[in-house]
Amino acid sequence: MTQAFSKVTAIRGMNDALPGASARWEQLEEIVRNWLQAYGYRNMRAPILEHTRLFTRGIGEVTDIVEKEMYTFTDSLNGESLTLRPEFTAGMVRAAIEHNLLYDRPQRVYALGPVFRHERPQRGRYRQFHQIDVEALGLAGPDIDAELIVMSARLWKRLGITDVELEINSLGQGDERAAHRAALITHLEQYKDILDEDGLRRLYTNPLRVLDTKNPALQAMADAAPKLFDFLGEASRTHFDAVCARLTDAGVSYRLNPRMVRGLDYYNLTVFEWVTHKLGAQATVCGGGRYDGLIELLGGKSAPAVGFAIGVERLLDLWSQYQPEILSPECDVYIVHQGDDAQRRAAVLAETMRDAGISVIVHAGAASFKSQFKRADASAAAIAVILAADELADGVASVKLLRVAQQTPDTAQLRIPLDDLVAFLKDKVK
Ligand code: HAM
Repeated sequence: MTQAFSKVTAIRGMNDALPGASARWEQLEEIVRNWLQAYGYRNMRAPILEHTRLFTRGIGEVTDIVEKEMYTFTDSLNGESLTLRPEFTAGMVRAAIEHNLLYDRPQRVYALGPVFRHERPQRGRYRQFHQIDVEALGLAGPDIDAELIVMSARLWKRLGITDVELEINSLGQGDERAAHRAALITHLEQYKDILDEDGLRRLYTNPLRVLDTKNPALQAMADAAPKLFDFLGEASRTHFDAVCARLTDAGVSYRLNPRMVRGLDYYNLTVFEWVTHKLGAQATVCGGGRYDGLIELLGGKSAPAVGFAIGVERLLDLWSQYQPEILSPECDVYIVHQGDDAQRRAAVLAETMRDAGISVIVHAGAASFKSQFKRADASAAAIAVILAADELADGVASVKLLRVAQQTPDTAQLRIPLDDLVAFLKDKVK
């Protein structure tokens, strides 16, 4: 008796990218790598799994990510607590420290890949999502903050995306935040009665985050709160003004958002986000800032750093609104054949075509011409090559131009000598 198995489905909030959608990912990745190269950034890869304490210490104990969104489990072999990375920065910094990457010079590095946060899934918010993460390690000046922001603006331009707005803020330095924090706690204490559970818990542990509320009843309280920006000292203001001046030089417009706090604790001075009204509730496509204390906090020799990450799913969603179609033919040439000899000849010919840089699918197995042509058409190949006993006897292949630019699509079949075939195809698909 056969046993019926229940279907195994993907985990909620974790998405498959099927071949059609994946073509857009691949095209984006290519554009992104060229864009990063234009600024001298080099790829770096760290493990997806890290010790939990890297993130609790790096991102901060009292953050949504660490408090409730991490995929953490105990390694059953040795009892260690491990966590799937919820972001790249902490792991990149750990790797830089461990391998002494900043020994003789600053480093511009990037990483692409999946990250994991146990959030409530909705459009633009997933449990496994992908980031393009960019970090400039060992550089302190406002010039590099501005360069990173201008760099992100260049990517939107390259993708033809126009409806994104830049919001920036300065979080100052530790002592400035401490003075602001004291004033903020005094302000928030007046609202104890209306604070929700999260707000009350964070009042003394992380009062800045109490302002990061979506609750309309708390908006007035948040609006009237003392602003960190007013507590910034001269050096912090000068840094911020220098960043703004350079953005203006580059023609990148921005909006000061004094309420922006970001969801991770490692930031100081410049923080920024790119937001759009075209993605519904999950409006932030890219976020980042300076984190001059993190390298030392994670055990390295004190060094400044700044970076940002782009949410790939959100960027793809946005990009598809500007460029709805991405063509992704399976191959340049689809070979249809009839008879065993022709099939064997097709396989050999296909290899010589591939030597010449042409991508080829040889119809697998045997089938009627009609069904093979149907497959050829579905593959979106530019050209069908037909091989059968007739052709082989005459030393030719029949060629049908299916989707070659500047050709009428229903051009009758051409007969091309086998010796000339590769050169002919190369010319058509180039
Ligand atoms: P973040 O703001 O937490 O920053 O995340 C960066 C971007 O990832 C967001 O702007 C958003 O586009 C995307 N994102 C966040 N959560 C989700 C989700 N659940 N589903 C889909 N997309 C999401 C960081 O991660 C910092 N490490 C950025 C950074 C790098 N700061 C300095 N260097």
